[in-house]
Amino acid sequence: MKIITYQPDESGLAYAVGTTLDRFIKLKQGDFPFASGELSQLLRDIALAAKIVNREITRAGLSNIGGAFGQTNVQGEEQQKLDVIANIRFIRALSKGGEVCAIVSEEEDSVIDLQNSSGKYVVAIDPLDGSSNIDVNISIGTIFSIYRRKTPAGSPVLKEDIMQAGREQVAAGYVLYGSSTMLVYTTGCGVNGFTYEQSLGEFFLSHPTIHAPKTGAIYSVNEGSINEWEDGIKHYITLCKERGYSARYIGSLVADFHRNLLKGGVYLYPATLKNPSGKLRLLYEANALAFIAEQAGAMATDGVQRILDIVPTDLHQRTPLMIGSSEMVTEAGKMISAFTEKAMYS
Ligand code: AHG
Ligand code: MN
Ligand code: MN
Repeated sequence: MKIITYQPDESGLAYAVGTTLDRFIKLKQGDFPFASGELSQLLRDIALAAKIVNREITRAGLSNIGGAFGQTNVQGEEQQKLDVIANIRFIRALSKGGEVCAIVSEEEDSVIDLQNSSGKYVVAIDPLDGSSNIDVNISIGTIFSIYRRKTPAGSPVLKEDIMQAGREQVAAGYVLYGSSTMLVYTTGCGVNGFTYEQSLGEFFLSHPTIHAPKTGAIYSVNEGSINEWEDGIKHYITLCKERGYSARYIGSLVADFHRNLLKGGVYLYPATLKNPSGKLRLLYEANALAFIAEQAGAMATDGVQRILDIVPTDLHQRTPLMIGSSEMVTEAGKMISAFTEKAMYS
């Protein structure tokens, strides 16, 4: 009998394209300083909820779950039915999983204490990002940040467990419900992207070790607000146009961020005269994407300081956001700071 030795693809790398998310999480568990398996399980819980939400989204046009829910959230924004459904799905998955003690969600006024004091993790989540795009079949997303609680497991959840700076995140990710559904995440050891294979019900590694281009030729901003901007950002966008960059703006942060991460570009949601802190929320939008950006070699600032260094004071606090290719974010920041200094001394 002749026996031949099996030669695995790509030198048998654990992170070969096509590896399932479950397997990848397991193989990478050792990279994490507290490798007890709980964070791995938490990531699996999120992936499961993402599959369920993906199913709801793809059926939305047929199952009467499009449109408004009839209530506003704490920020005064009209909730869509899918905002509410996604919120319920993620909270349920995180609560059943048992690793999480508290959740901050865009759709909830207060912190949700899961009454699971043994849970070591806190999650901040935007269950459905880009909700104005739900009813028109355009890419939307989910954004999540994961922190280890500061107080010991077994004790009540305190403010210090929740109000942590973004640099304390132990993992973060997003799900993009687009022309294909993807889950992209980091645990602080690079960024990896997985594409969902609907018929198999699995996420497979499709974008290993994502590196963002240092610069690009795409700028993403809602230019309809130009009259509300300060001069620094106006100058930067004028420069983008002079250089012939392409304007690309979907209106779903996850989708705009994802494109720029892969192709090179910058996303800007600046302060406006009416909203000096911009629109996007620090805890469950900016922080997660900033962590992913940095892990991929890109950058995220509020125009002046690094997003991950901002210590939150409010659950739903907003921040201006400049995120994407490092050279572009740096250049935009210089123009914004120059204007701020000029305004201070004039
Ligand atoms: P959400 O749907 O979670 O409230 O987030 C919407 C955000 C973000 O996804 C997007 O980039 C931005 O709002 C768009 O705002 P404008 O319509 O002001 O451009
Ligand atoms: Mn959002
Ligand atoms: Mn949202």
